[in-house]
Amino acid sequence: VEETYIMIKPDGVQRGLIGEIISRFEKKGFKLTGLKLFQCPKELAEEHYKDLQSKSFFSKLIDYITSGPVVCMETNPLNAEPGTIRGDLAVQTGRNVVHGSDSPDNGKREIALWFKEGEVCSWTPAQEPWLTE
Ligand code: GTP
Ligand code: MG
Repeated sequence: VEETYIMIKPDGVQRGLIGEIISRFEKKGFKLTGLKLFQCPKELAEEHYKDLQSKSFFSKLIDYITSGPVVCMETNPLNAEPGTIRGDLAVQTGRNVVHGSDSPDNGKREIALWFKEGEVCSWTPAQEPWLTE
């Protein structure tokens, strides 16, 4: 099963979009296994985005991600992507509301970074047989 780390970024929290965004994942049938409101320390932000260290916007990105609480989510996506959250809700790349892991390997890496042991739940949603044959 693939695991994805999804994060509602500080602008999404400040703009009151937590419910709207989580609702889209729920409606799509994604299984949430971890969920928390979290103030990200600078060191964690730098580790999470380490591949972008050399970019000109790196320090702006770290300031942005640590500027207020984020909502950390761990999901097991069924197959399709929720896709249109940024398209519908975001205006600029530098304020793009959500993060989602870009590969199964990064999903694993990011979940280990953002969640401690015991914070991730294993459960079977009752709707599962209604989502896939
Ligand atoms: P896509 O790859 O477009 O699907 O999104 P991504 O979130 O994976 O983008 P990427 O890995 O390129 O960059 C990670 C994050 O850095 C983005 O989500 C933005 O928050 C931020 N970012 C990327 N480019 C810029 C930029 O030009 N300016 C600013 N301020 N932030 C940026
Ligand atoms: Mg990317």
